[in-house]
Amino acid sequence: TFVFASDINIWKNSTLNKILERGELRVGLDPGYMPFEMKDKKGRIIGYDVDMASKMAKEMGVKLTIIPTSFDGIIGGLLSEKFDIIISGMTITQQRNLKVNFADPYVVIGQTILVDKDVAKNIKSYKDLDNEKYIISTRTGVTGEIVARKFFKKAKIITFETEADCVSEVLNGKAHAFIYDQPYNVLFMSDKGKDRLVHLDTPLTYEPLGFAIRKGDPDFLNWLNNFMRQIKEDKLLDFHQKLYEKWLVD
Ligand code: ARG
Repeated sequence: TFVFASDINIWKNSTLNKILERGELRVGLDPGYMPFEMKDKKGRIIGYDVDMASKMAKEMGVKLTIIPTSFDGIIGGLLSEKFDIIISGMTITQQRNLKVNFADPYVVIGQTILVDKDVAKNIKSYKDLDNEKYIISTRTGVTGEIVARKFFKKAKIITFETEADCVSEVLNGKAHAFIYDQPYNVLFMSDKGKDRLVHLDTPLTYEPLGFAIRKGDPDFLNWLNNFMRQIKEDKLLDFHQKLYEKWLVD
């Protein structure tokens, strides 16, 4: 058999090869987005993405290191090689996809809205929120912000650095509504939002979530897509379904 020198170099430079050589998978994530990544009472980072990352490392036969990183700087962190991959509930957007590559999606979500209970009495659809008298909070640099600015031109949009700060603003009466990924809002309603907020739960957007890696790395992308298909389709392994039930269905 004949192997081209350029093919060997592609593999040598592949992030996957580097992970195997160092015996460690480094994952960048922002632990503020339940149920994908969050801190438990002891401060440990847990969630859907963390389980996914553990499974990935196990299949690679390497150890896992989580590198907590603010979402605003997470693509920058990947590009400057602070970690190998972003597994952080990241929506595959066409703009992000110009900078990074995405593996095939693992979940599809959409943006939904949590509204102050009293305000909700006057709201029939999300369109009624687009009024000068309303203040809508969302996180800086996420798809929620993009959607807020696109759908709500008249309302005032305010942004914060964490999901928790955004939604607190509504609980404290300083904002009227919060826009964010549906799974977060569902969990918030089952806990702190109960009796205080109303969930407008029809998704406004179509958002596949995917793992992001640096461009120009076909070997790593190939491994990830085959990994993803296996955990989704392998009924005997039953990994993805169990993960889904553990974190996304109550
Ligand atoms: N899906 C949204 C986005 O991609 C929010 C993701 C935020 N992730 C996080 N781990 N805090 O913009």
